Amino acid sequence: MKKVAIMTSGGDAPGMNACLRAAVRGAVYHGVEIYGIYRGYDGMIEGDIVKMDSHSVSNIIQKGGTILKSARSEEFKTKEGRKKAYEQLKILGIEGLITIGGDGTFTGAKIFFDEFGIPTVGAPGTIDNDLYGTDYTIGFDTAVNTALGAIDKIRDTADSHNRLFFIEVMGRDSGYIAIRSGIGGGAELVMVPETSTSIKEVISTLQEGWARHKTSSIVVVAEGDEEGNAMEIAEKVKKEISQKDVKVSILGHIQRGGSPSAQDRILASRLGLGAIEGLIKGEKNVMAGIINDKLVYTSFEDSITKNKPLNQELIHMVKVLSV
Ligand code: F6P
Repeated sequence: MKKVAIMTSGGDAPGMNACLRAAVRGAVYHGVEIYGIYRGYDGMIEGDIVKMDSHSVSNIIQKGGTILKSARSEEFKTKEGRKKAYEQLKILGIEGLITIGGDGTFTGAKIFFDEFGIPTVGAPGTIDNDLYGTDYTIGFDTAVNTALGAIDKIRDTADSHNRLFFIEVMGRDSGYIAIRSGIGGGAELVMVPETSTSIKEVISTLQEGWARHKTSSIVVVAEGDEEGNAMEIAEKVKKEISQKDVKVSILGHIQRGGSPSAQDRILASRLGLGAIEGLIKGEKNVMAGIINDKLVYTSFEDSITKNKPLNQELIHMVKVLSV
C-alpha cells in the first residue's frame, strides 16, 4: 500500500488530533504517502483533500477538536454521494482509508467498503464510549473529567443552598459518561438509558436520603434516559416534592471540547498507529481497539451492531455509596 487517506468524522472528541498525528507519523515512518480529508465524508465527496507530512501534525497532540474538521454527512448516506467520494479517491490514487469517528462514521465506512472495496481501518473517536471492540474510545476519559469538574462546582452550590440538582451529561444512547462522572462526583442517583429508573424510584431514593438528614442531592442524567431529559425529569419530580429547591444544569458541548487527558492522548496515539499499521498489514473493514491493554481489530459490523453493556456493578455501586 503506497497511498492512503485519513479523516475525522461525526461528533468531534478530544484526542482526535493525537490519533491523527500518530497515524500520519506512522505512515511517514513506513514510507506510505498520506492525505488528509477535510470535513469527513462531505470533504471526501467534494475532493477537499490535502497531502500531509510529519510537520502537518506538529504541535497538535494537546489540542481538542480536530484540525481536519468534522461533519455528519447527509450526502454520503446516498449512493450518488458515495460514488462521488469514490471518484475523488480514484483521482488521487488512494488505496486505503483511515476513519476516526463513532458508529455513524463506521456505518458509512462499512457501506463504502462493501460498494467500492477500498480497505478501511477505523479508530474509535467518540466521547460516548459506545463502540463494541474497545474498552474505551478516544475522548471519553476527557469528557468524564470535564463533566466531573462541573459536577464538583455544582455540588458547592447544591450544598450551600440545600438544593436538589439534576445534571444532564451527554450520551444519546449510552450511559457511560453519566455513570463514571456520577460515581466520581458522588451522585445520589445516576439515570442511564441502559437501566430504567422510574420517577417513583427517583423520588423515593431522594426522600430516603433526606430522611437520613442529607441536605443536598445530585442526580446525574444521561441525555438519552427513557424518562426524558434532565429538564423533563426535574419537572416530573418537582410536581411530587414541592418543598425542595430543584435546579437543572445541562453540561452540553463543553464535554466535547478541551485538551485531551493523558489517558486519551496515549489511547489515541496507540489507536492511530494501530490503524495505519493494520492497514499496511492488510487489515480492512475493521476498527482498531484496545481490549485488556492489547491492540485488537473488530469488524465494523460488530463494532456498530454489538452491544457494549454498562457494567452493572457500577450501577449497584451508586446505590450503595449514596446511603
Ligand atoms: O455522539 C457524541 C455526541 O456528543 C452525543 O453524546 C450527543 O448526543 C451528540 O454527539 C451531539 O451531537 P451534535 O454536536 O451534532 O449536536
